[in-house]
Amino acid sequence: MKLWGGRFQKETDTLVNDFNSSIQFDGRMYKEDIMGSLAHAAMLAEQGIISREDAAAITAGLQEVLADIESGKAELTSDNEDIHMNVETLLTAKIGDAGKRLHTARSRNDQVAVDLRLYLRHEIAAIKAEILDLQKAILEQAKQHQNTVMPGYTHLQRAQPISFAQHLLAYGAMLCRDVTRLEDCERRMNECPLGSGALAGTTYPIDRWNTAKALGFDRPMTNSLDGVSDRDYAIELMSALSVLMMHLSRFSEEMILWCSWEFKFIELDDAYSTGSSIMPQKKNPDVAELVRGKTGRVYGDLMSLLTTMKGLPLAYNKDMQEDKEPVFDAVDTVKMCLPVFAGMLRTMRVLPENMRRAAGGGFINATDCADYLTKKGMPFRDAYTAVGSLVYYCTTHQKLLEELSLAELKEISPLFEEDVYEALKLETCMGQRSSYGGPAVSETSRQIDELEAFVKEHQA
Ligand code: ARG
Repeated sequence: MKLWGGRFQKETDTLVNDFNSSIQFDGRMYKEDIMGSLAHAAMLAEQGIISREDAAAITAGLQEVLADIESGKAELTSDNEDIHMNVETLLTAKIGDAGKRLHTARSRNDQVAVDLRLYLRHEIAAIKAEILDLQKAILEQAKQHQNTVMPGYTHLQRAQPISFAQHLLAYGAMLCRDVTRLEDCERRMNECPLGSGALAGTTYPIDRWNTAKALGFDRPMTNSLDGVSDRDYAIELMSALSVLMMHLSRFSEEMILWCSWEFKFIELDDAYSTGSSIMPQKKNPDVAELVRGKTGRVYGDLMSLLTTMKGLPLAYNKDMQEDKEPVFDAVDTVKMCLPVFAGMLRTMRVLPENMRRAAGGGFINATDCADYLTKKGMPFRDAYTAVGSLVYYCTTHQKLLEELSLAELKEISPLFEEDVYEALKLETCMGQRSSYGGPAVSETSRQIDELEAFVKEHQA
């Protein structure tokens, strides 16, 4: 008979049984479910709601259940619907009546809410650690390439010279916000719903601060209906993960472009690429493509739970059992993507000559040429127009700006002097962009120091 079988005259239809059960996916929260029960039982005893003997039997029994589940000795079954009823059934089979007292002053509604928060809390810590490791991989590469000139792009058109370090450090900075977004989410998540009961608290003299503290929460949630009803913490986590995946997806897209023959800025390690079954020459960036692809899946997970929640009246509704699969999928996906991405980044071969060659074309020193005239006294807007006509001249004469003779330059403006050639060197153009946050080595060094300090500070 079901734990809730008292009111019923018939067995559950087998189709309904399978349809209703969530053990296939909530079974993974067995440890959190047991932690919650341990804290609950201890509190019940301290408050004199159950006897100390019963609490001791429950504690010992739960520890055995935990060991049995971990060793595979205990089986979690859909006959017991979900993880909460599976654990309770296993416990009662071991210790009898004391096990039946565990559910005093508690409901599965506050139980599932506390389990999920506990579960996601440690997943956040694991994801954070993986992001920090990816940032370390970025740092390793950035340190090698502060002087590696590459074209910076806007509209995917060559724009101004930057260094490869500067480009990588942009992602390093985005990932800092991903880390702090997770920390914010964790902070808001860290309130305890246990003791909310089914929805309206309980008539027993429970101590919600006791269980909240025992489980490492900052405090009990302030409202019992809210405690069992909201899943904003799971949604917030999936939003943060979606933003993180959006960053990884853009990074992936660039890795894919960079290792194409059209760019050839990098070459992926054999261990991080795959071949084609028909084209013998192919070396494909499948890892980056999959990270980009899986981003859609994480967005879908977020949309799924947002949609599930949007029309639900307070308090608990069974619809909310649909929260777990998307949030677990999002967490699992991100946890798969981060380490493989970091490995791909660590092992890639950077081809600075090709980056330099690409930076040489496309007139990416045109802004610097205008700045040269501006510094000699010409208003910037006039200088901009003058250099525009120089670029046009160059395109019709198949020349680069630095290949023009001083006579040709002087036709456009008498302000051009011999020192223009130094000013137009890409190394100069990049090296002089030393404004705060710019690509000059002085600034990439500062960014590297900052990122290193961030990683150290946020490591557990
Ligand atoms: N398995 C359920 C869930 O994940 C637990 C709560 C069920 N409560 C209830 N009254 N049916 O949402």
